[in-house]
Amino acid sequence: MGANPVYVNVDKSFNIDPKDLGKIIDSKTKAIMPVCLYGSTRNIREVYHVAKSYNLKVIIDAAQCFGIPELIDYADIVVLSFNPFKNIGTFGKSGALITQCNDLSDQARRFSYHGFYEGKKNDKCLDWGYNGRMDNIQAAVLLKKLEYFELNSLKRCFLAHRYIEKLNKIENDNRIVLPVERNENTWHLFPIILNDKKSADLIEFGKSKSVEFDVYYPILSHEFKTNYASNYKHKDHLSKTSDIHSQIIHIPLHNHMSTYEQDNIIKVIYDFFR
Ligand SMILES: Cc1ncc(COP(=O)(O)O)c(C=O)c1O
Repeated sequence: MGANPVYVNVDKSFNIDPKDLGKIIDSKTKAIMPVCLYGSTRNIREVYHVAKSYNLKVIIDAAQCFGIPELIDYADIVVLSFNPFKNIGTFGKSGALITQCNDLSDQARRFSYHGFYEGKKNDKCLDWGYNGRMDNIQAAVLLKKLEYFELNSLKRCFLAHRYIEKLNKIENDNRIVLPVERNENTWHLFPIILNDKKSADLIEFGKSKSVEFDVYYPILSHEFKTNYASNYKHKDHLSKTSDIHSQIIHIPLHNHMSTYEQDNIIKVIYDFFR
């Protein structure tokens, strides 16, 4: 596509920090791509307003955030993933995009179908494109799973709020920071920030108690050993993000988890901080 990503600092919600956005926008900037990371919609509205004040398009990566309809009011395009790891997923790779713009919608349909004009397969090719449509079996799986989506989302919300309530004491003791976005969050993952302990130590401690803690993205994009990342000029602008990342850890949360299992995890966390 000829586009290069330029990275922006996140804040402790792990989403773009709108205060830093203005600093990296220049004449080459075409669009802002906020990610609703771990399911949190924090900062999305502010990012949209900053982007629009520079007349830029907004493409929200909502791969981890299906189920929050208001997102479309803060984006030109919302991109979804239905891969099997997501809160609602098919049996294989699939996704979708949402837009309120008819032109973008037509373009996306063409793009997903070799560039063919809709309804004119093998006849009228208007554009360059992919073979990227969702197949019928995946669509059938998705339709069935949609029937359970609200219930599963409620279970995730229930478990997340239970963690917040039960881990509150450790947060009040200033040992951890719990997720800041508590309402508009799909709880794809449950991240916490460790203030005075190392994530590697909690991972090891968890293993000894048969609980899996993890850092879901252990390496930040600008720290990969790719050509683009190695030659990336503005790494020093991202020290705030690196600091936050060095303290993050994810604790288990999924919609099949029982409160009994969750209480065991909470006990392990309390033992770790004892
Ligand atoms: C935030 C985010 N963006 C994009 C993707 C890519 O989605 P897909 O696997 O459907 O290509 C994922 C999932 O892996 C994701 O979590």
